[in-house]
Amino acid sequence: MRGMLHAVVMLAALSFAHTTGRTQVAVATPPPARDPAQRIVLVTGSTDGLGREVARRLAAEGAHVIVHGRNAERGKALVDEIATGGKGSARFYAADFASLAAVRQFADGVLRDYDRLDLLVNNAGVVLRQGREVSTDGHELHFAVNYLSGYLLTYKVLPLLERGRSPRIVNVSSLSAAPIDFADVMITRDYSMNRGYGQSKLAQVMFTIDLAQELKGKGIVVQALHPATYMNTTMITSAGLTPRSTVEEGTAAVMHAIATDAPSGTFFNGQEIGTPHAQSADAEARAKLRAVSRQLTGVQ
Ligand SMILES: NC(=O)c1ccc[n+]([C@@H]2O[C@H](COP(=O)([O-])OP(=O)(O)OC[C@H]3O[C@@H](n4cnc5c(N)ncnc54)[C@H](OP(=O)(O)O)[C@@H]3O)[C@@H](O)[C@H]2O)c1
Repeated sequence: MRGMLHAVVMLAALSFAHTTGRTQVAVATPPPARDPAQRIVLVTGSTDGLGREVARRLAAEGAHVIVHGRNAERGKALVDEIATGGKGSARFYAADFASLAAVRQFADGVLRDYDRLDLLVNNAGVVLRQGREVSTDGHELHFAVNYLSGYLLTYKVLPLLERGRSPRIVNVSSLSAAPIDFADVMITRDYSMNRGYGQSKLAQVMFTIDLAQELKGKGIVVQALHPATYMNTTMITSAGLTPRSTVEEGTAAVMHAIATDAPSGTFFNGQEIGTPHAQSADAEARAKLRAVSRQLTGVQ
């Protein structure tokens, strides 16, 4: 009987799974019981590294965490760990941010399953060391995963944030920045990892500045940050780099950006106000980025 029950639960858990070629979307774990008083937070890329630690921290404060990543095993492990911790609760959704269709389906799942969202942390990110790659949509892969997916997800879940309690968006960017060449946003010429990663991270900062202005009247605060340099996460260790800081330091910086009363649109370096790349101050460049992002995602 217990075995049968387990099988039914597993089937229910996997019933949202769809795989279309490379596109992996919306594998959700079963919904846990939720207290209406709980803060509802969505942390992208929370199956590993910084996002996972931020998710743990928020759950320890009693939040309901929407856990996201591609790796269902690590996602479910975190959901179980949070449930065992007894303070917060969590639910996992798988979506590969190398596909805008997967982002849309993930967002649709969240819109279906929740009636409000109090905090969105756009954290999922990659560094690609094997040369230029493109997403399912044909977009340079750093730009797609680190920036464009978060851009689309943010607009898709905006109706939930508008109903949120003290709603906030935190974009996990970096001090690594490379100016965007609007004649070749997909970096088809003179590609380097530093350019690909750097422009995706700068795009997040530019998006933060614009979105903060756009959402001022709606009371939604938007912040961006460089969490810490060379944290001891998979991103750094898998590249054979020597960590220079800890994931705890990065987590403290994200928690600070979540709680700060600094004006919306601020960029933090750790827990201090930072100076982002000069292109982010260029309103014309930001308008160009907005136009490209709208055109690529269909956001109006
Ligand atoms: N590490 C640093 O020193 C450092 C410094 C400055 C900024 N940052 C930024 O901090 C953020 C987190 O980095 P981290 O060091 O924690 O990296 P990490 O340990 O490699 O974790 C990355 C997270 O992003 C998810 N992810 C990666 N590719 C994805 C995709 N295609 N679709 C969906 N999810 C995907 C991963 O989930 P799955 O594995 O389940 O797909 C994982 O949960 C990134 O935005 C990074 O740019 C990091």
